[in-house]
Amino acid sequence: MNRNDTTARIAHVFRGTFVHSTPRAAVEILQNCVLGVDDKGKIAFIEKHQDVVSLLEIWGFETSDIKQLGQYEFLMPGMVDTHIHASQYSYAGTALDLPLLEWLNTYTFPVEAKYKDLDFANDVYTKVVRRTLKNGTTTACYFATIHTDASLLLGELADRFGQRALVGKVCMDCNSAVPQYKESPILEDCYPNVKPVVTPRFAPSCSSSLLSELGEIANNNKLHVQSHISENKEEVELVKTLFPGCKSYTDVYLKHNLLTDRTIMAHGCHLTDEELEIFRETGSAVSHCPNSNISICSGMLNVRNVLNHKVKLGLGTDVAGGYSPSMLDAMRRTLDTSKALTIQDPQHKTLSFEEVFRLATLGGSEALSLDDQIGNFVVGKDFDALRVNVCVPDGPIDLFPGEGPKVILEKFLNLGDDRNITEVYMAGRRVVPFPDT
Ligand code: GUN
Ligand code: ZN
Repeated sequence: MNRNDTTARIAHVFRGTFVHSTPRAAVEILQNCVLGVDDKGKIAFIEKHQDVVSLLEIWGFETSDIKQLGQYEFLMPGMVDTHIHASQYSYAGTALDLPLLEWLNTYTFPVEAKYKDLDFANDVYTKVVRRTLKNGTTTACYFATIHTDASLLLGELADRFGQRALVGKVCMDCNSAVPQYKESPILEDCYPNVKPVVTPRFAPSCSSSLLSELGEIANNNKLHVQSHISENKEEVELVKTLFPGCKSYTDVYLKHNLLTDRTIMAHGCHLTDEELEIFRETGSAVSHCPNSNISICSGMLNVRNVLNHKVKLGLGTDVAGGYSPSMLDAMRRTLDTSKALTIQDPQHKTLSFEEVFRLATLGGSEALSLDDQIGNFVVGKDFDALRVNVCVPDGPIDLFPGEGPKVILEKFLNLGDDRNITEVYMAGRRVVPFPDT
């Protein structure tokens, strides 16, 4: 236990069941435990109740100060969406009838052009931040658009509503059907939990000189980098023709110094084992976005193969190629895709729900190189957490006698929704329910 300071520093104490991942266990369930959060939003202790009950009294904690979780409640780490286009939320759930390159030109670029209008941006960005927070996304790695003011507004809204975020002003200077796309990344860094991420859209949208410039900015400022890679076969072929001097799609980003241990690349459905080796060597991560991969028929990433290559991997919604803003959906689609791969090849080892839970929490934090700060309930990390109640009135889950915490977790992951997420905390601050509701 790491608790030598005065009692005044403890802001919350929860008692009950805690579910999280550790480096050894995809799911660890801690029952009848007590978790303390200090006034800086960090986890101060997590212990068996009987081991701290007397200390709590010495620290002046009345029983009534302790937030007691009910029989059908647990706390889990906040979920990490490693890839989401905030700007595409306005058409999420529609426009899924074209493959990637046509989809971008037909739907995406015209909608993204609207973000020069800050009122439009404010409406969509407010809605996407609130919707994802309500669904348990405490950390989001966002693509905005090319518009600096609207991108800054997204950062401000994430900060205001209490979502941890990486915000990328999209950089692109070629091959767009819409003429007004121009460049300059934003480097403002003024919120404790909202940071910039260098965001070349993807290789086909960027000249070699733009990619080099962005690689230099990222390395000089130790910034995160995000982009797309090997999502669809037509795109992979296009990259070969656009960058004939590069050995592979991965080599394009490697040659422009964009692959570091703070890099996250979405999709990677068609990466070769050789390319995955480069990801491992550079410490770069993959964001698996299964809803999008199926919805716009891009491909099916073999997550097991990526993990076997010791490449960091998190899950993403990829709104709006993916139609759902919920990370619960991302987990379910990850399982579906893994099962589809097993149908194709019975030798394929299907992912378990426990492994997928890990990918949505600790795995996401590792993919974003934020695992020293978030991802599970370890003393000293920020308290980003969801209070889950699987037994809410008129909720989506029915329970039956004898079901223990592991079954309850599995039912929540497969059947639950935002009605079951009764509270959300980010860095110790309760951000859901929203203060205005
Ligand atoms: N590749 C380049 N831009 C995009 C985008 O906005 N969505 C998806 N799914 N892939 C992309
Ligand atoms: Zn994307």
